[in-house]
Amino acid sequence: MSYAMIEVRTEAEKVGIITLNRPKQLNALNDQLMNELGAALQAFDADERIGCIIVTGSEKAFAAGADISAMAKYSFADVYKGDFISRNWETIRSIRKPVIAAVSGFALGGGCELAMMCDFIIAADNAKFGQPEIKLGVIPGAGGTQRLPRAVGKAKAMDMALTGRMMDAEEAERAGLVSRVVPLGKLQDEALGAALTISDFSRVAVMAAKESVNRAFESGLSDGVMFERRLFHALFATEDQKEGMDAFLNKRKAVFTHR
Ligand code: CAA
Repeated sequence: MSYAMIEVRTEAEKVGIITLNRPKQLNALNDQLMNELGAALQAFDADERIGCIIVTGSEKAFAAGADISAMAKYSFADVYKGDFISRNWETIRSIRKPVIAAVSGFALGGGCELAMMCDFIIAADNAKFGQPEIKLGVIPGAGGTQRLPRAVGKAKAMDMALTGRMMDAEEAERAGLVSRVVPLGKLQDEALGAALTISDFSRVAVMAAKESVNRAFESGLSDGVMFERRLFHALFATEDQKEGMDAFLNKRKAVFTHR
């Protein structure tokens, strides 16, 4: 399938890379881009060879938010009846393979929210995160007021949502929004290295780990621990568990079959 607003490629036949590509608009997220992103994510999720997906942007912008020129004239009826945001932003939540956001430059508004919908964020040292919707007379609409406090706590989330200020990469790492910060020139290699590592692990175990960590944000501790325990038990039914443990005991590298 060919795309106009994203670029799609694979690395080592096991990592899928999606690059947002509207450079003149700093990757502002419009319907077409979000539809293409959703389709590309689903295609990689269905591709047996792919073990991990990276979503990235340009050096200047991961994404500067939802497309303001597309939104400016919308009425309440337009956005409510048209199910704006939900209609094509939620696909990423249904992706079962890990999705890494490799963020350089601006990740603002919907761009910050998109990064937070990925499983973890690796940031370049020039990354800037923010929820500046308040300056436009609205509030975050793609989960920013919900995922940001879960990531950085109430104080910083309120600060970001109420003042619209940006957080640099160092502050974002300190606050727990991003997992690693690397020099700009190393961002793609760092993300690819993480994705290749993940791709070589047992696919079933990787998907179970993602599902279980996500459950931590949807349930109380007892339910979450029980969910984890059942998945942990279930993994003893896989060939990969036998291989992983045998490889450790015999001091060799495990070769997983993903079954
Ligand atoms: N939507 C549409 N176009 C955008 C855009 C956006 N979110 N962000 C940037 N652009 C466009 C600019 O209009 C400009 O276009 P022209 O060259 O045609 O004028 C081009 O991208 C370059 O932008 P700037 O000239 O402004 O670049 P800069 O380096 O001076 O500033 C910036 C960069 C600080 C990111 C600034 O562009 C900015 O503040 N952008 C808007 C950020 C924002 O408010 N995002 C939230 C959007 S609302 C949202 O996302 C809702 C939600 O929760 C889903």
